[in-house]
Amino acid sequence: MSIVETVKGTAQGLVQGAMAKLVPLAPDSWIPGGVPDPLIAHQHGKIGTPVSRIDGPLKVGGGARFAAEFSFDDMVYAALAYATIPRGRITAIDTDAAVAAPGVVLVMTHLNAPRMNPPAVFGASPTAVGPADLPIMQDDRVHWNGQPVAVVLAETQEQADHAKSLIHVTYAREPSTTSLDEAKANGIEQGLFMGQPLLNKIGDAEAALASAPHTVDHVYRTPRHSHNPIEPHAATIAWIGDGLVLHDASQMVTAQAKTIGDVFDLTMEQVRLTSPYVGGGFGCKGLWDHQILGAAAAKLAGRPVRMTLSREGVYRVVGGRTLTEQRVALGAQADGGFEALIHSGLSIMTPHNNMPEPFILGTRAAYACPNIKLQVQVAKMNMLANTFMRAPGESVGTFALESAVDELAVELGMDPIALRIRNEPEQDPTSGLPFSSRHIVEAWKTGAERFGWDQRSAVPGTRREGEWLIGMGCATGTYPYYRMPGAAARITLIRDGASVRARIEVAAAEMGMGTATTTAIVGAERLGLSLDQVEVGYGDSTIPGAIMAGGSQQTAAIGAAVIAAHNALVAELLKLAGNDSPLAGLSPDEVGSEDGGLAKRDDRSRRESYASILERAQRDELVVSKEASPPLELMHWSMHSHSAIFCEVRVNAVTGETRVSRILGSFDCGRILNPKTARSQFRGGIIMGLGMALMEETQFDERNGRIMNPSLAEYHVPVHLDVPEIDVIWTDIADPHTPMGAHGIGEIGITGVAAAVANAVFNATGKRVRDLPITLDKLL
Ligand code: MOS
Repeated sequence: MSIVETVKGTAQGLVQGAMAKLVPLAPDSWIPGGVPDPLIAHQHGKIGTPVSRIDGPLKVGGGARFAAEFSFDDMVYAALAYATIPRGRITAIDTDAAVAAPGVVLVMTHLNAPRMNPPAVFGASPTAVGPADLPIMQDDRVHWNGQPVAVVLAETQEQADHAKSLIHVTYAREPSTTSLDEAKANGIEQGLFMGQPLLNKIGDAEAALASAPHTVDHVYRTPRHSHNPIEPHAATIAWIGDGLVLHDASQMVTAQAKTIGDVFDLTMEQVRLTSPYVGGGFGCKGLWDHQILGAAAAKLAGRPVRMTLSREGVYRVVGGRTLTEQRVALGAQADGGFEALIHSGLSIMTPHNNMPEPFILGTRAAYACPNIKLQVQVAKMNMLANTFMRAPGESVGTFALESAVDELAVELGMDPIALRIRNEPEQDPTSGLPFSSRHIVEAWKTGAERFGWDQRSAVPGTRREGEWLIGMGCATGTYPYYRMPGAAARITLIRDGASVRARIEVAAAEMGMGTATTTAIVGAERLGLSLDQVEVGYGDSTIPGAIMAGGSQQTAAIGAAVIAAHNALVAELLKLAGNDSPLAGLSPDEVGSEDGGLAKRDDRSRRESYASILERAQRDELVVSKEASPPLELMHWSMHSHSAIFCEVRVNAVTGETRVSRILGSFDCGRILNPKTARSQFRGGIIMGLGMALMEETQFDERNGRIMNPSLAEYHVPVHLDVPEIDVIWTDIADPHTPMGAHGIGEIGITGVAAAVANAVFNATGKRVRDLPITLDKLL
């Protein structure tokens, strides 16, 4: 039996569409960098109308199965034991007590693990998503404090957890680097992001800074952050014949299947990875050691395995955001015009991964300035591989840059919004490309009016209510538009008597952000069907194409793929329609989809329904797959989303406690496809920004590289009482150069928030905090 047959019906990636009627649109091609998408021209379609999540009922009703809720017959449960030294060798590992413990089926260590290839590290190839290039449990080496050194399989989770506590490991510790000072002393290198140096130089920024009449020049620090999705990482894994099935929690389904397959010398046909539901991702729901160890242990034991990480396990095995030290220096004329912009500094990574925190990315296109120097350098530490975390780079980069802009406004005695608008660039200041769509000034103006910015006192510490000092701050947020190549969509048109329904499948991931819903909206809009005639399939490596839920690019990638597949479908339908159809003799570009069929664009009396075409051709269904056009738009334009963040804080003059009392995000992110899910994305990002501003910090023991606060009791994230009502508005101005006019909206929400809070704290108290988080001790 094939893998596909075995797991048929278990993937649940297929969700039934919600109920709503659509106004159909013409299906012209979307041409990158050229003709605007007709969906932009039509203001009356489904796009832009709020639609509730089509997977919502399944989730609230308990019908949605997450990775740890799949099961296989004869399945065993896994627990991991973690190393307690940062670097060295395992000299002895005593597993006797664990092996003898109740219910234990297998204890796997480097001594008995099957031979595996190291995973290909992220960036090594388009499909490589390994966290590092290290071999996994293949030798006695320890590379970080927390590295898995043993896997216990038992009949129950409790038995596995107990048995792993009985394992005793003896180590020979070797010299390691676990302090920042030591890491810097060991040497600093140029940071490379996706193979490109994080370095830009325009003019002579240091000289321009030295001669500028007004300057600020400070260092800003951001700490390590750990990922804390509500759903800890998990995978339910089985070997079926010579194939491997993983029900995983993944935001990179196809690439992850490929990378795992290569570890075990399997072809793509021998691996099936599904990820129908993901309980939060933010960059961390990718490949880490636990899936590979789970698959290896399943192979060794000859039984399926459920591998669930405890919350502590997520901190030990799944990397987070690394720390940064950033210098921002600005030089300006008296009218605020920038003469020099320097944004440089350091981040930390490991000797074996590929992820310097690229904090200058947003600065590249932020402000007009004749002299710019941007650079990220890297020092190395022996620690868990750091990784992507919501808006890697921009989250912490905008904290430094936008704090510095605020400091310069104070120095100049200028309003900080006016200072930003004064330096609004005409074109991308580092690439020289024109902007595809940039309406940030509008976002500032509408935001300032709605927030009541004119009520802000320019003099810090002058608004007080009892013990509470009140201040307002603002900052710009930014995140690039990306669209990765390789996306594809499969559309299946299914005849149901006199009507049809369509199944739209994309190898994408739904992590709770509304992807399934926007895919249904885009598909229904393109096909001229109602939402209840559309099913969406996703989260399955057997679907053609590869779409990553990363870089906020998934929706654009899906849109481009659906548009391509729809165009191919129209061509196929015209062939089937033949000479007896009212459409006879028409070419695909003369025809559009509307109201459940095809019609000639300029003569809608020439039309035939999908059902009629299929019926005359004696077909029950028609399937087309098509790859999206390559993302050429990125070569022609500088493409970004923007935001203006406004924040009001109350700081207790006695205790130093900071409460954010109001916050507004004014976004310029192209056409918003689904206002309902978009609003949640923006709000979620802003809440993460509040955590970054005020509380989040991974405590890393510099003596031994151990994370000291691996739990939600000690790693603080915002809870309901920390979060005020979040107001969100947007320009809704379509980008004429992207599929559907849309930009990504997943990551921009967090950007700018920490700076807006820090700037508001300064306005309230006169105290400038340049190292996050802004805890009360820093304000007393
Ligand atoms: Mo995002 S950090 O690209 O999931």
